[in-house]
Amino acid sequence: MSAISLSHLYLAKSLSIDMVSSLCVIPFIFTFGARAATYSLSSNIVGTEFLSAFEHQAIADPTNGRVNYVDQATALADNLTFATATTFITRADHNTVLSSSGPGRNSVRLQSNQQWSTHVAVFDIVHMPRACGTWPAVWEVGGNWPYGGEVDIVEGVNDVSPNQATLHTGPDCDAFDNSNSGCGVKVNKANSYGPPFDSNGGGWYAMERTTGHINIFFWARNDGSVPSDLKNGASTINTGNWGTPVANFPSANCDITSEFAPNNIIIDLTFCGDWAGSSSVYSASGCPSTCVEYVNNNPSAFVDSYWQFNALRVYT
Ligand SMILES: *[C@@H]1O[C@H](CO)[C@@H](O)[C@H](O)[C@H]1NC(C)=O
Repeated sequence: MSAISLSHLYLAKSLSIDMVSSLCVIPFIFTFGARAATYSLSSNIVGTEFLSAFEHQAIADPTNGRVNYVDQATALADNLTFATATTFITRADHNTVLSSSGPGRNSVRLQSNQQWSTHVAVFDIVHMPRACGTWPAVWEVGGNWPYGGEVDIVEGVNDVSPNQATLHTGPDCDAFDNSNSGCGVKVNKANSYGPPFDSNGGGWYAMERTTGHINIFFWARNDGSVPSDLKNGASTINTGNWGTPVANFPSANCDITSEFAPNNIIIDLTFCGDWAGSSSVYSASGCPSTCVEYVNNNPSAFVDSYWQFNALRVYT
């Protein structure tokens, strides 16, 4: 494990977004249209290629989840990670009743072997994990958190829609404000997260990082305006034709170049912990019992707690 990986052990507060109401304000300054950018495909990760592009991180969850992250051999042996030539699935255990004094629910945390600075990452997602107690995320992070930056692309808890895209950095756009909740933007589409996302066949998330901005885009599977270059995995893309992003973090408010180091992509599923398991957040979600008791005792509730990807494409 690299120094970058070790730094994730210090991410304890990185995702504790339990004060959604006090998120710092990001003005929407749509200057990107004039700076259309074209990019070339540099990584086209499909099916079994996820196994070599990512490391299964069997680490203690920095967000204190009721989870036990397993290594790749265990994940494959237990069918928590499943790959064919065309699809990639990663899930939590849905068979085991947990001892309250033992480890948490087996699950998977993937970290990309590669890091990127300016780039576009396109996630073609068929299904995301759901159930009370779940806290799934697709995100990017640099070393020495929060100084290397963090972009939460897909994230939420306890099946509560919509998705929330969030930036965490050092002092410019301060991760230490708002109880480390960072700067969040709720995606203005109900089918951007959880059960409505899944029942719709998922869709596409994309994150564009330039020196001038970080933009998050989302299209549901059946959206009539999905850009054809993104949809088809074209060898070149032009984000200038993609329309309005669902979240726009301009450098004017948070200097991307100084606040963001090269970042890894992380795909994970934890349970409870600092956000999903916060008692006020959990009960406000309409979920039964307490988060940890529910996760311990109801394995069959987690049969749909899985990620399924058609592809991850990175353009530079
Ligand atoms: C492993 O998981 C995949 C995807 O969820 C499923 O299609 C397959 O039937 C599972 N295999 C076994 C042996 O359970």
